[in-house]
Amino acid sequence: MSTRILFVCLGNICRSPTAEGVFRACVGATPDLTVETDSAGTSGWHVGDPPYGPMQKAARARGYDLSDLRARQFEAADFNRFDLIIGMDADNLYNIEALRPVGCSTRVALFTDFAPETGMDHVPDPYYTRDFDQTLDLVEVASRGLISHLKTV
Ligand code: 4NP
Repeated sequence: MSTRILFVCLGNICRSPTAEGVFRACVGATPDLTVETDSAGTSGWHVGDPPYGPMQKAARARGYDLSDLRARQFEAADFNRFDLIIGMDADNLYNIEALRPVGCSTRVALFTDFAPETGMDHVPDPYYTRDFDQTLDLVEVASRGLISHLKTV
């Protein structure tokens, strides 16, 4: 059975498309795992846009191609389309939960929950920090942690 995972951030042009691109590459290297991925932003500011240029460039330098991804806005129906919704920070979780349909029990988690060894409680937003490699470092650790988690459930 396939697990459907949605990564969510604010703009859907930096952190969540990077999470999707890095995670799908990790899944591709894990033959016994079937996962469907997507990403979305809690805002509609960048709907239809490709991932942010400097973010794509930093990802490409590590072998991750994000160029096929396009931003879309998170919506309440996503709670029924996915098994696990993963936010990048506490604001994302707040905005995701605000759209939870009554009676819906879909799990929502922070991506850093899967990277406890880093001591981080959010994925820093490189749109503001300009540290695209810091974001990639953390996303790689959390992606490996999420793969390990999925192998145990
Ligand atoms: P993201 O970063 O949430 O990781 O995609 C941002 C991208 C754009 C903006 C904010 C955050 N913005 O204000 O346009």
